[in-house]
Amino acid sequence: MDNFERKIKVLTVFGTRPEAIKMAPLVLEIGKYPDIFENLVCVTAQHRQMLDQVLDLFKIKPDYDLNIMKENQDLWSLTSNVLMEMKKVYEQSKPDVVLVHGDTTTSMAAALSAFYARIPVGHVEAGLRTFDKNYPFPEEINRVYVDAVCDYYFAPTDTSVKNLIDAGFKKENIYKTGNTVIDALFHTVENNSADLSYLGLNPDLKTILVTAHRRENFGEPIINICKAIKQLVNTNKDIQVVYPVHLNPNIQKPVYEMLGGKERIILTKPMDYEPFCALMKKSHIILSDSGGVQEEAPSLGKPVLVLRSTTERPEAVKCGTVKLVGTNPMDIISSTQLLLDNERKYKKMSEAVNPYGDGKACQRIVEVLKGIKA
Ligand code: UD1
Ligand code: UDP
Repeated sequence: MDNFERKIKVLTVFGTRPEAIKMAPLVLEIGKYPDIFENLVCVTAQHRQMLDQVLDLFKIKPDYDLNIMKENQDLWSLTSNVLMEMKKVYEQSKPDVVLVHGDTTTSMAAALSAFYARIPVGHVEAGLRTFDKNYPFPEEINRVYVDAVCDYYFAPTDTSVKNLIDAGFKKENIYKTGNTVIDALFHTVENNSADLSYLGLNPDLKTILVTAHRRENFGEPIINICKAIKQLVNTNKDIQVVYPVHLNPNIQKPVYEMLGGKERIILTKPMDYEPFCALMKKSHIILSDSGGVQEEAPSLGKPVLVLRSTTERPEAVKCGTVKLVGTNPMDIISSTQLLLDNERKYKKMSEAVNPYGDGKACQRIVEVLKGIKA
């Protein structure tokens, strides 16, 4: 780069645990080119503790921390706070490009705020769709809005590229990169020295890992999920369940009330990413409504029964490692029981496939960013 050229100022914005996990390797990759990029990070802290866990792991020190999280926050206050606070950050930092991730309210409001400030936006994990505005809620609409205002689309798979083209976005702005979650996973699996002894797992039992946190599963669905877990543990003396419980009070309350203190059910606080990956690897079956877990588990060869009726991640369903089971207790029980009892079915679902990437998504995104005008 000659002396008269300015560095490209990239501002990466995120706020929740999954965005942090998926953006952290990108921030590290951008940081490898200090002569080309000014590498700024803004966290909204839509999540606090669950975000800080990831910042610590990847040793990222944000340039801006909006510290927005409130106990049991609602979508209105969250959206307006991010929108307004990001205005100030953009005025101060004047980036050449803003990067947001996926479908959270942080991403949607930060992208809209950048659009109002006439700053180009790159959407990492662009193009995912269920085509149902209520599932997942409000994420499906968040991702549609981000795609509507952004300029660079970093789509993880052929399906997400096609969704964007079908929606009318210009092909020349769409880049198929793979999902950065695989970059994060490889980074973590490679150097993983996590100690799981604090969980007190019985090595003679099969471990079923559970995570659930989606807004559309609040109320009856989460109660049904707990009922199914209880029943499975009662009828199968050779299994134990580990459930790192999301800090959302709408999840904490019913889960601790229904499953707390039960034999062979280990409830724990949200786990750091490293031990969580180690636990996924150790698990026999995963029950989850998480987006990220659906992408990671196939790479580790672990069957995932998805506690949702739709998914924006059809690739692993097609490959056979992920199955949608919804939240009806009988459906959860019968699908889990089938995998516990039928070795052939289990083997078929536990083949390691990797439809989401090769661990080089961040490199591809950075190559595109190098072409942006400072
Ligand atoms: C958010 C995202 C969702 C993503 C999920 C990942 C939106 C609308 N939702 O949902 O897309 O899948 O994160 O986990 O953007 N809390 C804490 N500490 C934390 C995190 C959360 O106490 O570190 C509690 C707070 O009371 C907070 C509540 O959880 O108000 C809900 O957090 P919020 O980010 O609004 O919703 P999530 O369900 O976490
Ligand atoms: N995860 C974690 N600790 C946990 C549970 C999940 O580090 O206790 C990781 C998981 O590996 C994945 C991400 O968090 O990378 C998924 O986050 P979450 O399920 O909260 O959000 P979603 O992906 O559904 O948006």
